[in-house]
Amino acid sequence: MDRVIIFDTTLRDGEQAPGASMTIAEKLRIARQLEQLRVDIIEAGFPVSSPAQFEAVQRIAKEVREPVICALARTIEADVRAAGDALRTGLRTRIHTFVATSDIHLAAKFGDDRWGTTIEEKRATILEMTDRCVRLAREYTDDVEFSAEDAGRTDLEYLCQVVRAAVAAGATTVNIPDTTGYCLPNEYGGFFRTIRQRCELEGVTLSAHCHDDLGLAVANSLSGVLAGARQIECTINGIGERAGNASLEEIVMALKVRANRFGVHTDIETRRLTETSRMVSIATGFAVPPNKAIVGGNAFSHEAGIHQHGVLKSRETYEIMRAEDVGQTAEAIRLGRHSGRHGLFSRLEKMGIDMADRERGEIYRRFVDLADRKKEIHDEDLLHLVEQTQRETRTVHYRLEQVHVSTGTGREPRAEVLVQHIPSGTTCQETASGDGPINAVYKAIDQATGSHNDLVSYAIRSVSEGADAMGEVTVLIGEAGVFFRGVARSTDVLKASAEAYIEALNQLASFRVDQKSVDFVGDGIIQSFQGG
Ligand code: KIV
Ligand code: ZN
Repeated sequence: MDRVIIFDTTLRDGEQAPGASMTIAEKLRIARQLEQLRVDIIEAGFPVSSPAQFEAVQRIAKEVREPVICALARTIEADVRAAGDALRTGLRTRIHTFVATSDIHLAAKFGDDRWGTTIEEKRATILEMTDRCVRLAREYTDDVEFSAEDAGRTDLEYLCQVVRAAVAAGATTVNIPDTTGYCLPNEYGGFFRTIRQRCELEGVTLSAHCHDDLGLAVANSLSGVLAGARQIECTINGIGERAGNASLEEIVMALKVRANRFGVHTDIETRRLTETSRMVSIATGFAVPPNKAIVGGNAFSHEAGIHQHGVLKSRETYEIMRAEDVGQTAEAIRLGRHSGRHGLFSRLEKMGIDMADRERGEIYRRFVDLADRKKEIHDEDLLHLVEQTQRETRTVHYRLEQVHVSTGTGREPRAEVLVQHIPSGTTCQETASGDGPINAVYKAIDQATGSHNDLVSYAIRSVSEGADAMGEVTVLIGEAGVFFRGVARSTDVLKASAEAYIEALNQLASFRVDQKSVDFVGDGIIQSFQGG
């Protein structure tokens, strides 16, 4: 497979986005991250444009050693020398020199007669400038890139002449920028096909550089690859002049996911894409929209019931790449008004919540009702919803009629309970002593209900203030690895403790009944009644 070189220009073209300027320290941090991401080339800045730009390029060239560090220069001697000087301490460096080639740019930027009085004379001047500055850049480094600015609106015959001049002067990479984002994908690819046919390009890499004014930057860059471009210039999150540049993460993942179509690869460490995107977003203050491809917060979230159902069965149904491969969290099932039963119950199961099959209908009904009122439903909402439903809908087996406790200094705590067994209508009175008053109460309840379970945890907290503060007791009991919770509130903490325990026993008793009925009816039938 051919390799496509990833030329990252976040720190140069990306920083040209209005309001995106970064400090030298931020640029250095991002350059180190781009090195981790394994981009091939970092365009670190435009040294002649300001002392800060010069210093940023200089420091990045000195401190970031893996990728090639590139500096931008117009085809003006002072620019090329500034770029060469800023890169001097770099290990592997590139000078990228550019000049406008479209008639629109020549008329506007080279309107003065000193560049020539006719368009032909101005075009000839551009050819001379290209030749002179590419040669000068080669005196600093063997790696020289030439860009024909506004190539996308340049006369193709003339563009080929410029490319030949740049190559003859020693350019090793020739970039064909769609500076204004004007081209359509087939047109942009056509430039590469024509240039490859009409120019001698031995040892020269053709490069794509696209802007997003029509939202086509990525599509155009990919079209360039299909037509023979082997370098793509792009930025993290697609930031850049006006509507931005082609987004690195989209390009890289398109080439990877559709390698069958492109037949090329990149060396990008794709698992670092999301963290890099976050870092650039923080440094520039440009938020990443939730629906942004690859790195957006919603890129791997599924809310619609049909989608959740599909993804839970097989991620391939609605995901064309693995979230982990781009550094996102897998299978983010967002629960909201479009979610279905599968999304809800699979989340509840993951949260370790037990539900009787016959409770599911009511839990789902309440969930839909809540989702109509609340945008997104979080785990705490679900926990509350399920507990409330269970409390209100479960068959009550035991009811605490009375509890009396006697305790004091030097006396063994004793408890007396009266418990009603609802299904049979009988009541049972029991007395027990224990290590403490609560232990005594629980032993008496066990005797009255014939229970043998493990008390996994007992917690008490005050849920109001003052001398008559309400105590909330939460009890967790377990039987054969299944856990049941009981919660009760009272100003009398002994009463709350007894009621919480009775509630947990009720949950356990209901669970046993449900298990029996599921065995009796059969899983398949229950599931088919509950539907998708
Ligand atoms: O868009 C453009 O033409 C540029 C050049 C400097 C390559 O950014
Ligand atoms: Zn650009």
